[in-house]
Amino acid sequence: MNNYGGELRGRLVAPSVLSADFLRLGAQLAAMPNADMIHLDVMDGHFVPNLSLGLPILEALRRFDAKLVIDCHLMIDNPLQYAEKFALAGANIVTVHVEAASAPELRKVFAEIRAAGAAAGLSLKPGTPVTALFPYLAEVGVALVMAVEPGFGGQSFQNSALEKIRALREFADVNKLNCKIEVDGGINPETAAKCRSAGADILVAGNYVFGSGDLSAAIENIRGA
Ligand code: DX5
Ligand code: ZN
Repeated sequence: MNNYGGELRGRLVAPSVLSADFLRLGAQLAAMPNADMIHLDVMDGHFVPNLSLGLPILEALRRFDAKLVIDCHLMIDNPLQYAEKFALAGANIVTVHVEAASAPELRKVFAEIRAAGAAAGLSLKPGTPVTALFPYLAEVGVALVMAVEPGFGGQSFQNSALEKIRALREFADVNKLNCKIEVDGGINPETAAKCRSAGADILVAGNYVFGSGDLSAAIENIRGA
């Protein structure tokens, strides 16, 4: 548990369970043993105009498989109140939004997540400049680029995400940071290829994977050749 770290390499695919069939979630997870991690979207109805999943689903996923790498994406206000709880409940990565808290609050959140044994992640909305992440990249394990407005699955990929991925890749390489770059929203085989070329390490896909008849094949289509 909480084994996220340097051992994950290459093109990683994270199906987003927001698009899963919740009555069949266990069977769907069992049908995709090639998923590198499971992406869990947490929405509070304030930071984004939607409500989604919370701690009970995370706890159920952790009970289902102690080895599953669980990537929690918190689209919530006041991450200081909740982020640590997700780490303690067994998330391997807990990502919060740069727009959701002040710099001192974000640093406290990262420290709490790390102390609870998880990796901290930091995300940004499409309208936020990528430079907003730079001051924190040495402190986080994951930088998550949103390629759609957070809140809903099934939206179209915004190409502006590609420039952000390239900028993060360059910043991480120049500064010798081993922060992984993740992209979320509108990912299908075509947009995944563009994101991989731009330097993304982790590709989140909801509708494309769960809308497919063959979950495992869909994951390999996202991963690419
Ligand atoms: C959107 C969520 C995404 C969503 C992606 O706010 O953060 O993780 O599930 O879904 P698709 O791949 O359908 O755009
Ligand atoms: Zn997400």
